[in-house]
Amino acid sequence: MLKKFKSSAAAAMLGAAAVMSSAQAAVPDNADIFYYNLADQFISSFSKTAEKAALAANIKLKAYNAADDAFLQSQQLDTRISDKKNSAPLFVNLVDFSYGLPLAQAAKANPAQPYLVFFNRPVSKDALAAYDKAWYVSTDARESGTYQAEILIEYLQKHPEADRNKNGEIEILMLKGESTHTDALLRTQAVIDKLNASGIKYRIVYSANANWDFQQAFASTEQAIARLSLNNIEAVVANNDAMALGAITALNQYDYNLDGKGDKYLPVVGIDAIDNAITAIREGRMLGTVCNDAERISEVMFTIVSMDTADEQAVSKQLGLPVENRTVMVPYRKVKADL
Ligand code: GAL
Repeated sequence: MLKKFKSSAAAAMLGAAAVMSSAQAAVPDNADIFYYNLADQFISSFSKTAEKAALAANIKLKAYNAADDAFLQSQQLDTRISDKKNSAPLFVNLVDFSYGLPLAQAAKANPAQPYLVFFNRPVSKDALAAYDKAWYVSTDARESGTYQAEILIEYLQKHPEADRNKNGEIEILMLKGESTHTDALLRTQAVIDKLNASGIKYRIVYSANANWDFQQAFASTEQAIARLSLNNIEAVVANNDAMALGAITALNQYDYNLDGKGDKYLPVVGIDAIDNAITAIREGRMLGTVCNDAERISEVMFTIVSMDTADEQAVSKQLGLPVENRTVMVPYRKVKADL
């Protein structure tokens, strides 16, 4: 299942060739990638990035979409993992956290010993410990929440008029991801911690789990406006861009956040840096976002399976990122409007 690097483009893309001579370096011919839900805007944009990276590395990538259905995903993975001759790596974006452990055990029991690289969604320590070819490529969710809060704080400090109702505090609408997803919990907590440390007077006046989803965030924002009136909402913090854009679309109905000009504007911050968010920032409809670096995440995933080593230090050196317990954290970056 393994072949030598074919082209220098592939070698350069993976970077792995920098430490391994091209004679030793090997990449898999093909790999399977299992998405939790391709209707999720970040995951859909991630899938396009991963496809490009695979193409550049001459890896045939077969994608599966579980459409947020844990049973469907277990069927997809069970079929694949029961193929005892297939050593192609599996990249797994779990629907259901609890499925990680049985999956790792099944991979270990498979004589072909395929790599299992979990990404984006939480996986248990037990699952990683159960199989020495199980890896996790993730991000530090607290970091993204902190950056997002910093963007908002900087804006609020420069713009005292953001306290539109002049009651001495900033009323915040908080739109959260899935209630069980660590990214949602940690991002929200990091925002609160950073705001508390800033000394800015604020209050979260409405909070809802809109499950990463544009439509649900649109509906939650409408409910918040109906309950509180727009006068009593002064900023929107969303755990991701799809929800931030849902909120902006709801605000647009009241002629808010149409172009960043005039005083009908609320600072709205998201996370991910999907294309629509970058456009909204450029057009002045959104204050900022934090890049959830799909390019780097997919590069890390392919490098791990290409290096095919248990030596965490070698992988760390190659990636220029810390590696611990076969877990790699890809850093976030701030992206903001200059307001
Ligand atoms: C997060 C991302 C969200 C959503 C979620 C799904 O990292 O910011 O937009 O895609 O993953 O697990």
